[in-house]
Amino acid sequence: MSGPWIFGYGSLVWRPAFSHVRREPAYIDGFERRFWQASPLHRGTVERPGRVATLLPKHNAQCWGMAYQVHEHEAQEILVALDHRERTGYERVRTTLHVRNVGPIEDVLLYVASAENQNYIGPESHETTAAIIREAQGESGANREYLQKLAQGLDEMQVEDPHILELVALLARTPEAPPQVGVPSPSQTRVLRK
Ligand code: SIN
Repeated sequence: MSGPWIFGYGSLVWRPAFSHVRREPAYIDGFERRFWQASPLHRGTVERPGRVATLLPKHNAQCWGMAYQVHEHEAQEILVALDHRERTGYERVRTTLHVRNVGPIEDVLLYVASAENQNYIGPESHETTAAIIREAQGESGANREYLQKLAQGLDEMQVEDPHILELVALLARTPEAPPQVGVPSPSQTRVLRK
């Protein structure tokens, strides 16, 4: 039986890592996406945290991402795994989702790292964020992969997010960083990549 929907706007756009019945581009109202969340685990380390996406409330804004409808009987297990994956500051939030080809769906779950969490960075210049993303690596791999895959996912659904496009443009102007010694490679990564 088809169950609840989950909305993703960051790594969940391109790597949900859970089975689903259906996947559709969708948006939520009243939020904008920003790379203002430090990543001390998946895309960085405690010493050199990377930057990953979170959502900030903003009047009249819309944030596009990917919505997944999951099987009812798998929903609980999926949420437990997502709680673990998103444990570095993200909390479950519920809002209305607007799914292309479906219409509004109430009470849909997403993960938001609010300004109160310990890894929230707050406003940061695109140049600073891009410089950090260029270098950072964590358990799930290079920080720039997270940004590039998200940008690609949005591009595939024909969504233009100026914040993401600016970061991608800044990274494109600089060469890739050499691998850091002592940081786990993606092949060593455990189950819950993000
Ligand atoms: C999401 O993708 O919706 C949450 C943030 C992340 O995992 O990158």
